[in-house]
Amino acid sequence: MQETKIKEMVKRDLACQKRQFATVRCTINGRETETVVDVRASLADMLRNEYNLTSVKKGCEVGECGACNVIIDGKCFNSCIYMAIWADGKNIRTVEGLVGPDGELSEIQRLFVEEGAVQCGFCTPGFLMTATAILESYREYTREELKKLLSGHLCRCTGYENILNAVEKAVSLQKTASGSARGEDH
Ligand code: FES
Ligand code: FES
Repeated sequence: MQETKIKEMVKRDLACQKRQFATVRCTINGRETETVVDVRASLADMLRNEYNLTSVKKGCEVGECGACNVIIDGKCFNSCIYMAIWADGKNIRTVEGLVGPDGELSEIQRLFVEEGAVQCGFCTPGFLMTATAILESYREYTREELKKLLSGHLCRCTGYENILNAVEKAVSLQKTASGSARGEDH
């Protein structure tokens, strides 16, 4: 009787332990991945700990500062409050995926440097991912609208103006480039 009870307890314990871990298969920066995570882990932790994607910064860890922003299926999310298991089957992008094959900076990264939008750099990856999502929407925004779109980010150093300048310039350059591609200059 006692033995049966113990076996049942062990079985329940094993089932419980199994439920604490889950397999997450997703695409990260264009690469198919698979890993086992604690079901309570955040996507930020999975990206940093399992894949060494340390551009994903952990600032507040409560969805307030935007330092951990990544793009998931085309939209920006705070990865600190996004469960890793929700990423199963999704397409995730981080700053590591913005650079070219030989480490060359993307246009938005180059503009951040050019406009002096980076100081300590802790907030920069999050801003870059939001800026990338803005650019990939291929919509035109006023400076005020861009300010609102970037308002989910905190920066202790720059005073925000240079960041806004960089994103505004990127949007404007994209507009010029797409105008030229359509032959609007002729
Ligand atoms: S660390 Fe995720 S929003 Fe601050
Ligand atoms: S550059 Fe330091 S927090 Fe933004």
